Amino acid sequence: MYRILRREDLTPTVHLLEVEAPFVARKAQPGQFVILMVDEKGERIPLTIADWDHEKGSISIVVSEVGTTTGKLGRLKKGDSVAHFVGPLGKPAEIDNFVNVACVAMGYGMATIVPIARALREAGNKVRSIISAPTKTDLFGIDRLSKASDTLIATTSDGSYGEPGWVIEPLRRLLDEGQPINRAFVVGSVCMMKLVSAVTKEFGIKTVVSLNPVMVDGTGMCGACRVSVGGNTKFACVDGPEFDGHEVDWNLLMARRCTYPVRLEEVATAYRCQYCGQW
Ligand SMILES: Cc1cc2nc3c(=O)[nH]c(=O)nc-3n(C[C@H](O)[C@H](O)[C@H](O)COP(=O)(O)OP(=O)(O)OC[C@H]3O[C@@H](n4cnc5c(N)ncnc54)[C@H](O)[C@@H]3O)c2cc1C
Ligand code: FES
Repeated sequence: MYRILRREDLTPTVHLLEVEAPFVARKAQPGQFVILMVDEKGERIPLTIADWDHEKGSISIVVSEVGTTTGKLGRLKKGDSVAHFVGPLGKPAEIDNFVNVACVAMGYGMATIVPIARALREAGNKVRSIISAPTKTDLFGIDRLSKASDTLIATTSDGSYGEPGWVIEPLRRLLDEGQPINRAFVVGSVCMMKLVSAVTKEFGIKTVVSLNPVMVDGTGMCGACRVSVGGNTKFACVDGPEFDGHEVDWNLLMARRCTYPVRLEEVATAYRCQYCGQW
């Protein structure tokens, strides 16, 4: 069993859980993820490693409640445990001195991009972060990401905090102004990563996206996380989760994520982007 050492509510439906998992903490690197089961009868779900503490032997995850398992996680308190916690899985993010980088995030990505931004900054990059949420209430992690960045722009769709709009507008503005950006790292919904990749492609900026297809085993055996990148089949759990956003077959990824919901309204809630309305 893996004990919860700390719980912090970032919004009413997004929670940070610090889990005692010394073997995972020992090896965790930016961009990697864990697969956990809340209880013996539960589903295996992948969650990105949002932080780690070698001394405490702990891993922090940030859980956005969207369905059964994330709902169960959202009800756990400090002192409760999860049954299984496997990791670190996936390839770590490629950290190097690219000179100027943009870190673009939405949803749980606002927390999980922090270790990537921090490592990029430690590697000598100037890090410009851009985050978005529908309203002020949905924004979180600004302090953590600010500390890991040289500049941070926050936007909300309703204008209740920061600039009105979403990540695309400030990103395009920076690029139109000729601000030097050599590489972009993007974590968020499939639709957002697709649209950000389209913008950066216009400017010839290599863009790394963190893909979130349905995963089951996380070891490259089941094929559930199959994606197409540059015309080649890849398994996001072992070949990723990070890939070149300009090479991803986004329509295939979106279609495969819609495979399992049986009711149309379920699809509508889970998959339609709250910003652009696309599937
Ligand atoms: C590499 C990776 C990292 C992720 N990191 C985070 C994170 O840090 N925080 C976070 O809140 N969420 C993260 N997710 C998404 C998270 O795994 C899903 O939201 C979760 O599995 C939903 O389970 P559920 O039972 O609550 O919802 P369900 O009702 O089963 O499904 C709701 C939504 O979750 C997606 N989903 C369901 N099962 C899976 C699965 N096994 N794998 C992937 N997606 C699934 C569905 O496509 C649907 O969009 C990540 C996904 C991947 C692939
Ligand atoms: S989750 Fe099974 S192959 Fe990737």
